Amino acid sequence: MKERISVIFASCVLAIATASLIGAAAAPAPPKVPQGWNFTLPEGDAKAGKTVFLNMKCYSCHAIEIPGEKLPPSRSKGAGPALTGYSALPKEYLAESIIKPHTIVAAPGYTVKEGRATMGEYNHFLNVQELIDIVAFLKHGTKPEGK
Ligand code: HEC
Repeated sequence: MKERISVIFASCVLAIATASLIGAAAAPAPPKVPQGWNFTLPEGDAKAGKTVFLNMKCYSCHAIEIPGEKLPPSRSKGAGPALTGYSALPKEYLAESIIKPHTIVAAPGYTVKEGRATMGEYNHFLNVQELIDIVAFLKHGTKPEGK
């Protein structure tokens, strides 16, 4: 009887040891960024983006010419760069300029002092869909001449 118990005990230990070995081998590898991945913004709704642009009063600092669109005139003219022609820039660049204080700016003459943007923070006022749509709206700006 005693012998039998110790055999059972020994095989249990063996089974547990084997299981943990297999377990270790099957442990998931730490996640890796898949090759070829990069951040892309989904396509948005330019019409909804126009509404956000108007509601947020982006036009008060940024002039933008969009075929078939009439926007209210900017009150503080030139406070921000004119965004006409920004349709040539990638969606991701435009999105980043809105959500993160700029350290670099595409518009010549609008340098950012000490990495701080003068544009102000919109992250608490825009939801993700609104950001996507506003970018779609900016992508409708007139293309710069010759492009
Ligand atoms: C108070 C004025 C002001 C308002 C309002 C404002 N901006 Fe700006 N914006 C700026 C200034 C100044 C810059 C350039 C320097 C910087 O980033 O602060 C800028 C930069 C940008 C750029 C990048 C320009 C570049 O050359 O890289 C984008 C895109 C932009 N703004 C979009 C928007 C949108 C969309 C809104 C509304 C949600 C908005 N801005 C509201 C002043 C403003």
